[in-house]
Amino acid sequence: MSKKYMPGKHFLQLPGPSNVPDRILRAMDYPTIDHRGPEFSDLANDCLEGIKTIFKTKSNVIIYPASGTGAWEAALVNTIRENELVLMVETGHFASLWNKMALRLGIRTEFLETDWRRGVVPEKLLDRLQKDTKNEIKAVCVVHNETSTGCASRIEEVRKALNSANHNALLMVDTISGLASMEYKHDEWGVDITVSGSQKGLMLPPGLSFNAISDKALRISKTSGMRRSYWDWEEQIDANKSGSFPYTPATNLLYGLKEAIKMLHEEGLDNVFKRHEKHALATRAAVKAWGFENVCKEEKDFSNVLTAVMLPENHNADNLRKIILENFNMSLGGGLSKLAGKVFRIGHLGDFNDLMLMGTLNGLELGFEIAGIPYQKGGTAKATEILVDKSENI
Ligand SMILES: Cc1ncc(COP(=O)(O)O)c(C=O)c1O
Repeated sequence: MSKKYMPGKHFLQLPGPSNVPDRILRAMDYPTIDHRGPEFSDLANDCLEGIKTIFKTKSNVIIYPASGTGAWEAALVNTIRENELVLMVETGHFASLWNKMALRLGIRTEFLETDWRRGVVPEKLLDRLQKDTKNEIKAVCVVHNETSTGCASRIEEVRKALNSANHNALLMVDTISGLASMEYKHDEWGVDITVSGSQKGLMLPPGLSFNAISDKALRISKTSGMRRSYWDWEEQIDANKSGSFPYTPATNLLYGLKEAIKMLHEEGLDNVFKRHEKHALATRAAVKAWGFENVCKEEKDFSNVLTAVMLPENHNADNLRKIILENFNMSLGGGLSKLAGKVFRIGHLGDFNDLMLMGTLNGLELGFEIAGIPYQKGGTAKATEILVDKSENI
């Protein structure tokens, strides 16, 4: 089938994979080297040490040649036994997938229900943990940034809930789409296992994922968890000590990772987070001015990575996305599972600037016009006001 040539750059405005900057593409465009040679161990050490500064941890971070789903599995199989109980919170599609995975592995789960329009409500978690007087719950698993809804959870408050309940469950956090876009502090927040991936805030292609592991989680893994081989932490940590991996690593993605870490520190992590916050504010202002509803209901849960937008009834979000892709060469995220067709998601993360945001928002207005979706004008003007506002309270 012949494909129409689309001039200009493709706008990849999904909430991940995000746009890969040229610097990272160039860094990966280098011959693959001997992964048992001295040149490789320098690269491995740079990545293994460098990634700790992004998770804000002094503990081990395992790097898997896998998508984020693999790192979810690794977190569970290294620490939880079959039939043990874990507590999950149904913040959206991705939390539901993690829950499904745990069930498939033979883990018992309790799934705290929500309406998918909020992050974790720490009070509800505290209430449930206080009732677990026998410490049956072995882990609490939460998604930091729920990519299907644009709701974020406040992990330090989740930690406080565990502490207030005096509960010793492990705290596992998925920040696959939060890391390097929103503040994250593995050590300070007392997270036991943080799961993340390469294709979002780290600006890399898909293919790498991570487990940051607390001393407590590592200790538990030595006598607990399930039968495992590929995902086993101990083998990884042993190999990492000499700058190697127990199997063939994704060398070229590691070149990219090294460059990504360098870029994030050149900009400064705090500036990266502020940039994401500004773009999120501008996007939400545009959505409000258009007269549409944000999926995320609570201001304090708003994500700085993406905005999920509900279309008026009788208008299909997938049709809008198709029109925008075919006419303007821009990919937006669709609604997932129960939000399919009702919602589109704007990714404003990673290697992204003010002009790219304005292009994205303008592309949406063009799409509304063609799709015949009624909207109020002035959305991009509202976003402009925020982008040019230099006051500190933005
Ligand atoms: C929050 C979250 N968790 C888990 C995943 C699954 O990761 P992957 O698709 O890399 O396996 C994603 C993917 O988008 C995600 O956004």
